[in-house]
Amino acid sequence: PSLNTNQYSLDYMKNRKLYLATLASVLGPMSFGFVLGYSSPAIPELTKIEDSRLRLDDNQASWFGSIVTVGAALGGLIGGWMVEKIGRKVSLMLCALPFVSGFTIIIAAQNVWMFYVGRILTGLASGITSLVVPVYISEMAHEKVRGTLGSCVQLMVVIGIMGAYLGGLFMDWRWLAICCSIPPTLLMVFMSFMPETPRFLLSQGKRREAVESLRFLRGPDAPVEWECARIEEACDEQGSKFQLSDLKDPGVYKPLVIGIMLMIFQQMSGINAIMFYAENIFEQAHFKQSDLASVIVGLIQVVFTGVAALIMDKAGRKVLLIISGVAMAISTTAFGVYFYLMSLLPEPHGDLAWMALASIAVFITGFALGWGPIPWLVMSEIFPVKVRGVASAVCVLTNWSIAFVVTKNFQDMMNLLTSAGTFWLFASMCILNVIFTMVFVPETKGKTLEQIEATFRGMSGP
Ligand code: BGC
Repeated sequence: PSLNTNQYSLDYMKNRKLYLATLASVLGPMSFGFVLGYSSPAIPELTKIEDSRLRLDDNQASWFGSIVTVGAALGGLIGGWMVEKIGRKVSLMLCALPFVSGFTIIIAAQNVWMFYVGRILTGLASGITSLVVPVYISEMAHEKVRGTLGSCVQLMVVIGIMGAYLGGLFMDWRWLAICCSIPPTLLMVFMSFMPETPRFLLSQGKRREAVESLRFLRGPDAPVEWECARIEEACDEQGSKFQLSDLKDPGVYKPLVIGIMLMIFQQMSGINAIMFYAENIFEQAHFKQSDLASVIVGLIQVVFTGVAALIMDKAGRKVLLIISGVAMAISTTAFGVYFYLMSLLPEPHGDLAWMALASIAVFITGFALGWGPIPWLVMSEIFPVKVRGVASAVCVLTNWSIAFVVTKNFQDMMNLLTSAGTFWLFASMCILNVIFTMVFVPETKGKTLEQIEATFRGMSGP
């Protein structure tokens, strides 16, 4: 189909229901934001708590923070299997169970082990969600709004993180855990009214249901038969089941390598280490209330992730990744210089503290504009439908495993390489991510998922 046919058919579409389904599904990423943000206000409380059975020492506190990523890596594997077997919609609804039971175990904890189990379960749910929701949205959306809707995933993650930070100002860790169980509960309820994606239904041979789902999403006047045929054509070309020999197909291995690299680079920028470290930096800069400082970091993230979502389908993915990578490279370099100068001085200097604050602000802004939302978005766009589950699982597993390695070893890295060295390492990874983007990442803006597939298969270079 020519671009003109696309243009014509898009004019007849109503997007209201599509937005509604997106809104219901992003309660998932919001829940996972709450899980990520939860440890920040909870840990300081739990290290000082009266009840000695629940009190965390430093080592236990770092496990309490990072074990979520282990659960999430596992969740990626389970999620990849679930989306293929039971579909996108039901997988998403089922995520609510480990979310809520995880928080319930934390609320009822009698010892530190129960905390760990609760954190692993909520992490598991986060991992499944981080796989299912981008796939669910990109398979329902059309190319005019897919970037914006896909970016809402990260937007809701950071809103959730900020929600947990904010809640932590007013509530103790138990009440906060109760509140964190609300978004996943709503997720389950609202998702039960939403459709399965047309692409999944077609891959299962359920054509009538797929047309119905498209009709729901596109409104009464849209040419759903035409769109259905277009998706079917792509499904037919691929065959239906993933086999290992598919890895020889450039239409499979090229996007897979790109997806994995995007995830590695996202985490090697040091985002989670820096968010974790933000409170200390603010303390050194003589901010009285370092918990308020986290809220500020959270707010910067929300605002700029929102900006990224709005401009995603106009600016395109590549430009934003490059701007983002450059901003992060500059700010982590400056951060390294800050630590280096601090190590030379006998006493901390006020001006230097401001340099650190500015570096954090630029870093978070940069991350929010590109490397935060885009890896998740591009992951959901580049895989052919038959390998989407497996390939996304590999990406999610990579992302959370590296997140674990970075957050758990950050302190050791600082001891080994010095603080300056660690941040310069992050800086060099950011320079690499810019080069990688320029050379290897294809622009997916404005293309249908089927066109994106065709580019990979037809291209000689990625
Ligand atoms: C990343 C997480 C990170 C979060 C912060 C996500 O895209 O995958 O590791 O904690 O952004 O905003």
